[in-house]
Amino acid sequence: MYKIAVAGTGYVGLVAGVCFAEVGHHVSCVDIDEDKVKLMKSGISPIFETGLEDLMQKNYNAGTIDYTTDYKSVYKDADAIFIGVGTPEQPDGSANLSYIATVARQIAESVEKDCLVVVKSTVPVGTNDKVEQFIQDFLVSDVKVEVASNPEFLAQGSAVHDTLQAERIIIGTESKWAEERLMKIYEPFKLPIVSVNRRSAEMIKYASNDFLALKISYMNDIANLCELVGADVQDVAKGMSYDARIGNKFLNAGIGYGGSCFPKDTKALEYIAKQNGYELKTVKAAIDVNNKQKTMLYKKASKRLITFNGLKVAVLGLTFKPGTDDLREAASLENVPLLLEQGADIYAYDPVGAANFAKVHPEDKNGKGTITYVSNVEHALEDANVCFIFTEWGEVKAVTPENYKKLMRTPLVYDGRNIYDVEQMQEVGVEYHSIGRQPASREGKKESKNIEIQNS
Ligand code: UDX
Repeated sequence: MYKIAVAGTGYVGLVAGVCFAEVGHHVSCVDIDEDKVKLMKSGISPIFETGLEDLMQKNYNAGTIDYTTDYKSVYKDADAIFIGVGTPEQPDGSANLSYIATVARQIAESVEKDCLVVVKSTVPVGTNDKVEQFIQDFLVSDVKVEVASNPEFLAQGSAVHDTLQAERIIIGTESKWAEERLMKIYEPFKLPIVSVNRRSAEMIKYASNDFLALKISYMNDIANLCELVGADVQDVAKGMSYDARIGNKFLNAGIGYGGSCFPKDTKALEYIAKQNGYELKTVKAAIDVNNKQKTMLYKKASKRLITFNGLKVAVLGLTFKPGTDDLREAASLENVPLLLEQGADIYAYDPVGAANFAKVHPEDKNGKGTITYVSNVEHALEDANVCFIFTEWGEVKAVTPENYKKLMRTPLVYDGRNIYDVEQMQEVGVEYHSIGRQPASREGKKESKNIEIQNS
């Protein structure tokens, strides 16, 4: 078993650290934030992530994981140091590598024995070569330090599962020594390992994320066309999914992808291509479709209603997906300001994301529109003139078509996650607009644009 240090206790670093401890390594997690370290020592996770807190407590009590701000004491005799600090997007789409550079310098000034530095953060192709050079330039002791790339593929909400039961582990190394050490560290996971060179490993991360983003944007594009030609995108996706070459995942049309990875990584790869004199047309198209998709429902509703001014608008779901309190690139962040600007009185419900959203949009009664955060769906829907669904939380899915009819002043629903069956909404008399499907009208008769298929 190895002595592992992890730099950065965000999603990537903390989950990796806890999972390394869980399989038997001795782990020290380093963060610059004293309060966060205290919190983690007391067994509390700074992020909302299923199963993480239990494993933190179990391993802390067993003495296999610790948290500290004192990087020197941890880095000096670590067998491997995993870097999981952020690489936030800059205005031009490039990644900000200053946090990685800071950690690299601290490592160079602290290590006292041969050590493998493993970059888990998503970084532009070629960055790890530079990190290795940077460490060599600042190295104080006469020891061997090599850099490996080891991108992660965890999704928020299932991060622990995605790490312990990963479909594959990608390792990118430039020497047998580095490859063998990283292989050994991952041996207890008993998972398939793909070993490639560093640049390929860096590229695999972008190519995978951007492919998934592309898949979603493609389905959103098809969904918009389905609406125009009288098709149903869910049926289309179902029909496509039986082809094993296409698969049955990430075919859900909606109000676009959000989160910390897809929006950032698509823009970053487009930027990398541009820097290399290449135009990455497919990824650019995925970005364009996504940008338009996020406000698709708002635009539809704006055409349908004369004004939002003074209307009670129920907003169900604020986070970029269920199972997380993360709002990064969430569709709500684009739609709520538009609604407020139009004078809407918003009643927003989200089981865990409301507090974070209130930091951006506080309950201010003096603006043109207003926003009130409520603790249950019924409260949001009561007497509402229109409802927008932005996140498919279980609590939102539990609302029945009858509830909308009963609770709302006018049962008019814009669903960005295609939660409901159009026919059922039609039957109970809810006017229902979703993505890539025909609307249901309140008159109890489906507004179908179905093209008649002639028997030949
Ligand atoms: C993603 C990748 O799944 C993960 O492998 C990578 O390491 C980080 O980025 P995450 O951003 O946590 O993970 O969430 P994910 O579940 O992939 O969803 C991303 C966005 O795409 C969400 O806004 C989600 O609602 C949207 N999405 C996903 C769709 O609109 N349709 C789909 O079919 C799937």
